[in-house]
Amino acid sequence: MKLLDHRVAVISGAARERGIGKATARLFVEHGARVVMLDLDEAEVHAAAAEIGPQALGLVCDVRSAADCHAAIERTLAWAGQVDVLVNNAGITQKRGVVDVSDDDYELVTGVVLKGTLNLSQAVIPSMRARRAGAIVCVSSMSAQQGGGVFGGAHYCAAKAGVQGLARAMARELGPDNIRVNSVAPGLILTDFSRSGSTDEAKHAIAQAWPMRRAGSPSEVAGVCLFLASGLSSFMTGATLDVNGGAHIH
Ligand SMILES: NC(=O)c1ccc[n+]([C@@H]2O[C@H](COP(=O)([O-])OP(=O)(O)OC[C@H]3O[C@@H](n4cnc5c(N)ncnc54)[C@H](O)[C@@H]3O)[C@@H](O)[C@H]2O)c1
Repeated sequence: MKLLDHRVAVISGAARERGIGKATARLFVEHGARVVMLDLDEAEVHAAAAEIGPQALGLVCDVRSAADCHAAIERTLAWAGQVDVLVNNAGITQKRGVVDVSDDDYELVTGVVLKGTLNLSQAVIPSMRARRAGAIVCVSSMSAQQGGGVFGGAHYCAAKAGVQGLARAMARELGPDNIRVNSVAPGLILTDFSRSGSTDEAKHAIAQAWPMRRAGSPSEVAGVCLFLASGLSSFMTGATLDVNGGAHIH
């Protein structure tokens, strides 16, 4: 028996080659799940799902759009009949000083990170409620806890802190429906996040000041998402798990 046998998971922001979302999709399938991978670019998300295999479906979905999110969940239900797990992973950042954050910057980053998490959660909750079962994992960030420091502008930090608050509120409200909601807060991970252009070497160099002396891999975040998605964490809700190699111990 595998950890996610007979489960269906929806993962946002799952198309990018070295991304946390795709690593999570791969790991979930290895553990028995069918996965629906959502992202912006049609060719990229279809190719990513094809690479994962027949247990994966790729769909275009801009999480800023409530209509897109509802359509994606309808397609998921038509394909698989149920949604057991949602991983709110789509994200974007911009390096900005606080006085330089424009209205458009704010709308974009909070729209993807915070409103996107709300939109997709709102779209899955009714079907989870109907089955009285579900696990939602929200990908926050160490930036939420320590006010940035690596990639984050102030608007990104605020949005990621908002995600933790939203996740806790959903945990409180949805517990009676047997829907668990938890967050992960990754530190510095070796992805091409927001196409930052920062090299792996530069990231490892930053990490020399931290206890584990290295940046993390996408699969190391995926593993914690698997734990929170599976029955291994069946009595956990409203929690935030740090995945940061000790970079922020609190
Ligand atoms: N890489 C890190 O060091 C790090 C640290 C902390 C948190 N995170 C978080 O991890 C998550 C995954 O990031 P990653 O590092 O894998 O980078 P990534 O850029 O590879 O992944 C983000 C994905 O989100 C998608 N996306 C962006 N806007 C979207 C939208 N409107 N609708 C749907 N999808 C959209 C992108 O196309 C991309 O595939 C993000 O939420 C990010 O904030 C990353």
